[in-house]
Amino acid sequence: MADTAQSLDGLEPKKILLAQYDPQDRRFARFFLDLIGGYQVLEAATGMDVIKLLKHKPDLIVLDTAAQGNFLRALEIIRRNKVLKNIPVAIYSNEQKRLPECIKRGADGFIVKPSPPAAFLGKVWKLLGSESQKTATAVGFANKYKRDLQEIDNLPTLPTVYAEVDRLCKNPDVSSEELSKVIETDPSISLKLLSLANSAFFGFSRQIKSVHDAISLLGNKTVQNTILNIAVFEATKGLDGSKGFDKNAFWLHSAGVGSAARELSKKLKIDREEAFTAGIVHDMGKIILDALYTDFYEEVIQKVKGGGISIFAAEEEIIGLHHGQIGKELCESWDLPTELTEAVSYHHRPKSSEKDTEIASLVNLGDHLARKFGVGSGGDDLVPEPAPGALQRLNVTVEQLDEWESDIQKAIDRDQSILSTLKG
Ligand SMILES: [Fe+2]
Ligand SMILES: [Fe+2]
Repeated sequence: MADTAQSLDGLEPKKILLAQYDPQDRRFARFFLDLIGGYQVLEAATGMDVIKLLKHKPDLIVLDTAAQGNFLRALEIIRRNKVLKNIPVAIYSNEQKRLPECIKRGADGFIVKPSPPAAFLGKVWKLLGSESQKTATAVGFANKYKRDLQEIDNLPTLPTVYAEVDRLCKNPDVSSEELSKVIETDPSISLKLLSLANSAFFGFSRQIKSVHDAISLLGNKTVQNTILNIAVFEATKGLDGSKGFDKNAFWLHSAGVGSAARELSKKLKIDREEAFTAGIVHDMGKIILDALYTDFYEEVIQKVKGGGISIFAAEEEIIGLHHGQIGKELCESWDLPTELTEAVSYHHRPKSSEKDTEIASLVNLGDHLARKFGVGSGGDDLVPEPAPGALQRLNVTVEQLDEWESDIQKAIDRDQSILSTLKG
């Protein structure tokens, strides 16, 4: 035991996070690392265990490729995380054909199983000591992150009728006959459109009896936004997610943010009729993260329940990706109008928006107000202060917001009733 990591360094032993699905494999590798190598070994049986053990700041992570362990997903998450992305990761597997895939996902080395103890420990030693390896990983991170997002191919799709309506509305001279013909190809969407057109949300005194009638009264852009509101619910209702994610509270929050943003835009006399839709879609990234990274999102929710951390920060910490980032990808894959993409991407940092700080600011303040009034749940119990950039951009003060509170609250109460129609 003279050649142990502990006695060589004269310091604390280096920590190795050993992630092996098979308990026997784990015992075997632990024997080398602990008894012969002198390393401190943290054992993980699943990708979720890996994520939980990262708080011990291992010096090296050794993962196998067993599908049941889901370790490669954990590797992707580690590589997206600002704090953890430089920890070297070695794959220990007999599936040599998976080497290119593992490297692509961010592994630094591959140890072929079985390996003689000297070869195994030699590789571990090299990975623990190689600074250049870590730098190479960091340099490649920015490009890799972008590629990872592009590779997310399980995003839900919108009902086709929305794309058709969007295409037609790009022509300002499109006739209401043409538009209604397209909308009527989807009877369920047409029915919901009529129900919404007749609701207090629009406040018309006479009954709207046909899609054509709705288009004439509401105008193309409002109809397009209303169809998008319906389409978003259609696209996401089949998504499964974690137990802790309360979709009902999520939609109450989203609609609340939309109503507050819409009312605010009226008070400020800026005509942003898409403000409600911006609220409906602003946190969509949460639903997507919850559906794609279900186990990890459950962890995010549990962390938030512990208190003192926003869902945005917990997403960044555990998944290495926040809902604004993945929401942006979703908006782009759905080809949504720029203003909605900006609201989704930058509602937490409106000043970062380059194309539409106004809508991002309206949604930022809407989010603040809906949280302050306790409408549904934004994922955590914190009430963020309005972003100073948003107040500045809209030329509004906190005192004015206080003054308008009761009108905004009324608008929120009125609009929540349309959720039952949207959910269908
Ligand atoms: Fe958000
Ligand atoms: Fe929100």
